Amino acid sequence: MDFTNKTVLLTGGGTGIGFALAQLLVQRRNRVIIIGRRLEKLQEAQRLVPALQVFQCNVAQPAAIDALFATLHAQGVVLNALVNNAAVLEMWDILKQPIFPIA
Ligand SMILES: NC(=O)c1ccc[n+]([C@@H]2O[C@H](COP(=O)([O-])OP(=O)(O)OC[C@H]3O[C@@H](n4cnc5c(N)ncnc54)[C@H](OP(=O)(O)O)[C@@H]3O)[C@@H](O)[C@H]2O)c1
Repeated sequence: MDFTNKTVLLTGGGTGIGFALAQLLVQRRNRVIIIGRRLEKLQEAQRLVPALQVFQCNVAQPAAIDALFATLHAQGVVLNALVNNAAVLEMWDILKQPIFPIA
């Protein structure tokens, strides 16, 4: 698949899988905008990959998303793709804490 010269918004791009994908997308000459809640993680990602654009944004807060898109719009950014990678993975013992009670 030819995925170059696109503009991509990547949530949770400051760490882990998102950051790895962000690096790949930049290597393939895409403009990549990463967002996350912790500014220091975004800044570290940008230090390692200077081409990244970063925005602090909590995707669980609708007002923060509105503010992000208002900023992107004001900057004339036109997105080609959204990668919704951001999430918090919670681990628990399903037998000790079942989602539904086990009879
Ligand atoms: N690693 C695995 O084995 C695995 C397995 C299955 C699924 N996944 C999924 O794959 C994705 C990436 O996982 P990962 O292992 O790379 O984890 P990770 O390093 O913790 O990455 C998650 C990223 O999402 C950001 N994030 C979390 N909540 C956010 C919010 N409300 N608003 C904005 N950004 C938010 C985090 O940054 P901030 O905390 O700074 O916001 C972080 O950069 C997640 O969706 C995860 O559930 C991972």
